[in-house]
Amino acid sequence: MHSPEITELARSYAERVQTATALSIAAEPEAQLTVPVSNFLSDFAKEVGLGELQLLREAQLDGVRPDFVAVIDHRQCGWVELKAPGHTLIGENWRGREKQQWDLLSELDALIVSNGEQAALYINGAMLEICDLPLKSPDFWDPEPLHDLLQKFFSAKPTPIRRVSQLADRIAPLARFIRLRLDEGIEHNLSAVRQAQEAWDATVHETTSTTQFSSDVAQVIAYSMAIAGLSGEADINKDGTVTLEEAKDTLARGRGNVLAAALGPILGIPELTEYIAPELDAIVRLIASMDVDAIHNSKDSRGEPWLWFYEDFLAKYDPEARKQSGVYYTPMSVVQFQVRVVDDLLRNKFNQRLGFGSRSVVTLDPAAGSGTYPIAVIDKAAETAFAERGPAGSKQVADNLTKNILAFELLPGPYAVAHLRIGQRLAEAKGQLQVQFEDINVYLTDTLESPNTPSKSGLFGDARVLAEASEKARQIKAEQPITVAIGNPPYDRVTSDTGGWVTSGDQKTDPLFNDVIKPAQETGVIFSAQASLYNLYVYFWRWAIWKVFENDPQDKAIISFITASSWLDGPAFVGLRKLAAETASEIWVLDLGGEGRGARKEENVFDIQSPVAIVTLVRTGKAAKPASVYYRRIRGTRQEKFDQLDSIQRLEVSDGWATLRADNGESFIPASTNDLWSSMPLLADLFPWQQPGIKYNRRACCTVR
Ligand SMILES: C[S@@+](CC[C@H](N)C(=O)[O-])C[C@H]1O[C@@H](n2cnc3c(N)ncnc32)[C@H](O)[C@@H]1O
Repeated sequence: MHSPEITELARSYAERVQTATALSIAAEPEAQLTVPVSNFLSDFAKEVGLGELQLLREAQLDGVRPDFVAVIDHRQCGWVELKAPGHTLIGENWRGREKQQWDLLSELDALIVSNGEQAALYINGAMLEICDLPLKSPDFWDPEPLHDLLQKFFSAKPTPIRRVSQLADRIAPLARFIRLRLDEGIEHNLSAVRQAQEAWDATVHETTSTTQFSSDVAQVIAYSMAIAGLSGEADINKDGTVTLEEAKDTLARGRGNVLAAALGPILGIPELTEYIAPELDAIVRLIASMDVDAIHNSKDSRGEPWLWFYEDFLAKYDPEARKQSGVYYTPMSVVQFQVRVVDDLLRNKFNQRLGFGSRSVVTLDPAAGSGTYPIAVIDKAAETAFAERGPAGSKQVADNLTKNILAFELLPGPYAVAHLRIGQRLAEAKGQLQVQFEDINVYLTDTLESPNTPSKSGLFGDARVLAEASEKARQIKAEQPITVAIGNPPYDRVTSDTGGWVTSGDQKTDPLFNDVIKPAQETGVIFSAQASLYNLYVYFWRWAIWKVFENDPQDKAIISFITASSWLDGPAFVGLRKLAAETASEIWVLDLGGEGRGARKEENVFDIQSPVAIVTLVRTGKAAKPASVYYRRIRGTRQEKFDQLDSIQRLEVSDGWATLRADNGESFIPASTNDLWSSMPLLADLFPWQQPGIKYNRRACCTVR
């Protein structure tokens, strides 16, 4: 028998729910449960001596976050989600939009789901307990199971994190909740959020949209907390948790730490940290559950654990953006092919015996993602040094590598991972525990922005740290000679104004892009086909040719990119091909195909539908005549393509490459060697008027069949 007070609470709960449900005309029946359930749980917790429970209602703009944040005795302890009476409490059975919601909710450390009739407690997506609420027969209701469930809810500890992939999976939903909350703050014109955005734009980097701001902040918080937590030294006051302030202080021990400085505009506005406190607290609990040693030693069956971190993170944080921006890691066979053949060119064509590890070889990845190319370069240099100089070799080249490996990345998330991974790899090569933060040449910067506008001076504190880092990146863009540019730049159709300095130029320089677009205009390429030039990968090719071959012309230099292959033979790309032929001595085109649309589908090395090619531009001396072009096509399944890439050791004409000339911007793909095929008229001759047809830019609201 339980106390009369509990019986009274149970009766009053049943009455309130029944009245609310009877009056309900709302489209969302669970909304009727909001007040009765939250009042009942709070009153019950107090009555049975479990503490003072507050359930803070969450705004429901996004439809993803749970309905309440639960706070027990002023300490946030978890979340509560309400469903309509009769709705299943088994999250795994939810369908449609609710399934997506469950994907995120199941990552929360402690969650109660209730339909008014029952309540279920989930810890990291696993149901721990389920109990009845006193809806049907309040007088006969047994309060013990609810007492037990709430006790476990209040004292829940997240399942320990032992692997890098778990860290990505578990921190991403919380970062997403921060992003959604900031979006909501902007929508409601909340002054703390507006102020933070102004401070962010003025000091960290100018965001192009409010959603970019929310996303940048959410990622900086998540990555700073994770990296500081992983150092094992961030719990400064030894209370078992790492706060955002402690994370900042820990990171700031590395002089010039950009992540720590980027936390300035967030921590500097107390109303902002208060606003995002529920999510921040959840991240604090998550970080406290990290088994740091286990994470450092963790393995991943897919390969090096950190390689996957950003892709795993994005899959949960923003799956749509991941699909649209094509953030997929670059397969190792592709990366290693590029690194291997460039290393061979450096050693055998440029007489740099230590390849990438040579003192005068400077390597830049201008779109570094999470740093896969720079790491492969370090590994290759260590291997070459070992072969040349024996066991001491890799330590000997480590200083050169630390100075000479440069990487640019636009997004804070992958930037943070790249910085961490490259720093770890350089430290390993040097035989040290770590490399000073500011000695690692990975920069959070927009590669395509002007190299001619010096960063602000006369600043102090975090703003100064950020301005100094951005000035260092600018100086590299303006002044640093580069021997090798290597990587996998982004491919994305964009508008004409998104190429930054490359498309707009500045007071000092005409737009570099003129060399790409003007020849297309002059040769009468139809206007609508010119639109295909507005693609990030085209901007990156143009920028790299400027940076490596034109800005500070070195006799010997190399650019090796994997990008979409439309530039190899598209009529609009005549200018880019001509520029490549004029500035390089050799052009090696390894066409990997991979058309995913139309009748002749072929597997791609990425999960995308646009065919791709690895193009290596080699400049062996001051270019006196246009480059020779060497072309080779690789076909087959994805795995067969990887196998063929793995088997190519160096770029040798005799190894199946066709030679052709494209002095005036002709195609880089040889005409067919089949005589019958070549004798056929071109489709373009039969249909001389061509238009690409309807182009629709708002995919969400218009579908063309
Ligand atoms: C295809 S990913 C590179 C992946 C990387 N190679 C890897 O395997 O991790 C392209 C990268 O370029 C970055 N990016 C896009 N625009 C950029 C810009 N303007 N400046 C610098 N980086 C940029 C993207 O954020 C993305 O991380």
